Amino acid sequence: MQRHHHASAAPLSVSRSSVPLSGTIAVPGDKSISHRALMLASLAEGRTTITGLLEGEDVLRTAQAMRALGAKITHEGEKWIVEGRGVGALSEPEDVLDMGNSGTAARLLSGILSSHGITSIMTGDASLRSRPMRRVTVPLAENGSCFVTRKGERLPMAIVGSRQATPISYRLPVASAQVKSAILLAGLNAQGETRVEEPVATRDHTENMLRHFGVPVQIDKIPEGGRLISLTGPAALKAHDVVVPGDPSSSAFPIVAALLVPNSEIVIVGVGLNVLRTGLFATLREMGAVLLVENERIEGGEPVGDLRVKASALHGVDVPPERAPSMIDEYPVLAVACAFANGSSRLRGLEELRVKESDRLSATVALLVANGVSVRVEDDDMIIDGRDSNKPIGGGTVETKMDHRLAMSAIVLGLAADLPVHVDDTAFIDTSFPGFVSLMNGLGAGL
Ligand code: S3P
Repeated sequence: MQRHHHASAAPLSVSRSSVPLSGTIAVPGDKSISHRALMLASLAEGRTTITGLLEGEDVLRTAQAMRALGAKITHEGEKWIVEGRGVGALSEPEDVLDMGNSGTAARLLSGILSSHGITSIMTGDASLRSRPMRRVTVPLAENGSCFVTRKGERLPMAIVGSRQATPISYRLPVASAQVKSAILLAGLNAQGETRVEEPVATRDHTENMLRHFGVPVQIDKIPEGGRLISLTGPAALKAHDVVVPGDPSSSAFPIVAALLVPNSEIVIVGVGLNVLRTGLFATLREMGAVLLVENERIEGGEPVGDLRVKASALHGVDVPPERAPSMIDEYPVLAVACAFANGSSRLRGLEELRVKESDRLSATVALLVANGVSVRVEDDDMIIDGRDSNKPIGGGTVETKMDHRLAMSAIVLGLAADLPVHVDDTAFIDTSFPGFVSLMNGLGAGL
């Protein structure tokens, strides 16, 4: 069932929280892992049950696309059941595949489609149609597939998959887990060894989950923190149940809110703690945050723990560029934390933020500037002046630009601001964090 929440904007005015945030919550399932679970289960032979799947718009688009390609996907309450088709056995979709707002869905699926001998056409919403696809079409075309895109390599695009895909060998020019994953997924139905070299390690959920489905994936460290990942096709995936951990990227919003609203203390249970995702937690601790991990455990092949957060006096921080891949989606809300910190902060190496659901570099600057925070961009760095007691924070209107993370960051800003913050549209929050507003209200936010 496709939902159409985005037809009308949902503006929200956010006032500073009058009470401390308190309570125990769980955040929805990890978005990256949820997309991969549906895709790999659809490529597996047999039946996979997924629990904890993120039922957000982005992931529902992936489910819909995999159904259109022949997988049987149903759900009974919180259990999602996928009857896979097997690698190489996807069928040609009868209609355009609409990936909505999701870059991950579009890019990973492009990889799968490139090595299936079928023709498909992919589109997305206005945000996704403005994002670059060249980063996947260039390497994927090496396997004999063909992509016809709109000007600037934008969606909609037609994909003529290769009937006899050859394996790709590629060194990533940008740190991107999506590009890495697209190439690895294409390799499942190629004859021979697919190799991806990444100069900086990016989230490895695709590698972990391929192993979980029985595919041998070789991972070698290369100098300066990079990795060489390889697999040999054609590969067979065996159905294997998946437990999706809570999304650390979603947990970022209640975490920063609890740090900033005086006297707060919250616990978030079952958050994924894969080290290639936890750069924000390290950064917040460097800023003086009380952010404790309790009950650390392994669930479904990924480390998981409960996070205890206490309101903390934060100071400015200098975040090195090599940390960016492990916290790439967290910069908007980190920037909000920096605005309330004592002293200035410098967030380095943010070029990839320009090609997210919005141009997140400009949009984050605009979010802060509209609310009285001094911030500037130097090359690819963002420099944010910390709290100045003579200057109130808030009072502005934030344009969220079809970007869920900007909307949630603006709400967090408003909860700690001196003056109300107006958010133009909160509808897109549903792409990654359905129920965000009521969950925050359960903590006392009073939205
Ligand atoms: C994702 C990778 C990242 C991230 C996105 C999810 C993934 O994108 O921003 O939200 O699931 O692989 P890039 O690969 O473009 O950095």
